[in-house]
Amino acid sequence: MRGMKIGIDFGSSSLKICTESKGVVVDEPSVAAVERDSREPIAFGNAADEILGRTSDDIELVSVIQNGVIADFSLAERMLRYYLQRVCGNRIYKPNIIIAVSTDTTSLEKKIFLDAVTLAGAGRVCIVDGILASSFGCDVEADKLGGRMTLDIGHQLTEFAVVSMGCIAACGAVRRGSGEIDSALVRHLKRDRDIVIGPHTAREIKYKITSAVKREAETALMLSGKSNLDEMPISFDVTSKEIYPFVDEQLTSLIQSIHDEMRKIPPELLADAADHGINLCGGGALIFDLAQRIEKELGIRCRIAENPRLTKVNGLCAMMKNKELLERNGYRFIFKDEIRDRLKRVDRI
Ligand SMILES: Nc1ncnc2c1ncn2[C@@H]1O[C@H](COP(=O)(O)OP(=O)(O)O)[C@@H](O)[C@H]1O
Ligand SMILES: [Mg+2]
Repeated sequence: MRGMKIGIDFGSSSLKICTESKGVVVDEPSVAAVERDSREPIAFGNAADEILGRTSDDIELVSVIQNGVIADFSLAERMLRYYLQRVCGNRIYKPNIIIAVSTDTTSLEKKIFLDAVTLAGAGRVCIVDGILASSFGCDVEADKLGGRMTLDIGHQLTEFAVVSMGCIAACGAVRRGSGEIDSALVRHLKRDRDIVIGPHTAREIKYKITSAVKREAETALMLSGKSNLDEMPISFDVTSKEIYPFVDEQLTSLIQSIHDEMRKIPPELLADAADHGINLCGGGALIFDLAQRIEKELGIRCRIAENPRLTKVNGLCAMMKNKELLERNGYRFIFKDEIRDRLKRVDRI
């Protein structure tokens, strides 16, 4: 097969791209800065994120992926084209793309991913289940092991699977994730303290003082925002004790949704996977004490993967080097028209 192989994990919060030879080469927010009237993009990724709040009202930040699927086709295609160009330069052959999607992605949503990647410059495309990639990212031996469970908590998408001998034996997905904590923090400060904060500040609170388990010690953070009363800038502090109930509410609900999905796993398979514990990955795994909380609520041991934000893309990198594994799962690098036919056939079943 001519052309380089490239893996893409287009998450709701960030776009990660890897190549066979270099590993992860792009890790940037999945956002585009667009001109409000014309909808023309002026920056993507880090450059777009940095613009937020620092320019006029004429520029808007758009999340290209929402809940794991493409929310704005034109921006997704142009964003992919921009990064593919950056990664591939002016190579003669088009790159072959392996792209991760969630197990609950519909045929239509897959078609949209396929069109976007192809228009962006892909040659052959291989659509794979992202949670299988996450499993490989957690455990490079996943194609040799019996039932192992991986739970990937992303920004707006949470997935799990029991993988046995390199294939998915059971899986589930909920279109929710750790981004709900950010929204809860924004809502709380506005409603209860008349303080308006932006997404960067919400993220800072989450990263620095949020814990999934109630703690005795209290930590505080000094921040800046805007008064909701007179719209003037203000400094304020926020403490871990103050935000805990809001974080707790979101996590209770998220873990309940995961639990509801996990109930569908056949009993022997679940028992086998539970014996080995859960590999926790995705950026959500970085919430302080989350593994401990999931362990308590689901009654299954949990260990956090190394560098959880990059588990899926690292797994993609491992998978694209393993032809036999791709074949075993029915994944093939094929041209757009061929995939379209396959998806049509799936639709008819
Ligand atoms: N250090 C951290 N502490 C807490 N949450 C984090 C941390 N780093 C990333 N996150 C959260 O993880 C989520 C992103 O995880 P990721 O797996 O990259 O998501 P996606 O694949 O959906 O884009 C975001 O909600 C982000 O705020
Ligand atoms: Mg992810």
